[in-house]
Amino acid sequence: MTKARTAILISGRGSNMMALVEAARAADFPANIVCVLSNKADAKGLAFAAANGIATKVIDNTAYPTREAYDAAIDAYLRSKDVEAVALAGFMRVLSADFIAGWDGRIINIHPSILPAYKGLHTHERAIAEGAKVAGCSVHMVTPELDGGPVLMQAEVPVLPGDTPDTLAARVLKEEHKIYPQALAWLANRIIEERE
Ligand code: GRF
Repeated sequence: MTKARTAILISGRGSNMMALVEAARAADFPANIVCVLSNKADAKGLAFAAANGIATKVIDNTAYPTREAYDAAIDAYLRSKDVEAVALAGFMRVLSADFIAGWDGRIINIHPSILPAYKGLHTHERAIAEGAKVAGCSVHMVTPELDGGPVLMQAEVPVLPGDTPDTLAARVLKEEHKIYPQALAWLANRIIEERE
């Protein structure tokens, strides 16, 4: 089996990226993490990726005049690395429809809610404010509709009395780290099958 060459895009802490990198250490994991790209030079996750021998790349969005120009630069980098699958992991940029079309069926994202509930930002604050009893996370295919692509995998956690956005986020994050590697494995296996 030739593993699916996978890029991870981050903007910050990178704990989901770390979970994917850890999972990809297993000999039988179908994805190989070939690069970690950030739009921010100070993204904390970059150091972990570099320390694990993964190519890192910063492409600073503020250096590009338009979203399309920025996305074209990312696309060119990913193509230069022969990337087959893209995993967004806390990448805080909306991607243009043209970029997404170029990766149709090969780009996934993790979102900290049970989609379609709580698309967008501040999911945990909103869930607590509305008195939700259940929260969780979703991995979905990326389509031009923000947080709107087909859901691949979800996990639920309870919202407990006294939860703050931070305590709830921490409970959800543990589940994110479990389901994201499983969802990437599914995508990578599909890509490998399509090659054959
Ligand atoms: C996670 O909660 C993820 O679901 C959301 O952004 C956060 C990123 O955290 N998209 P990390 O950078 O993976 O630690």
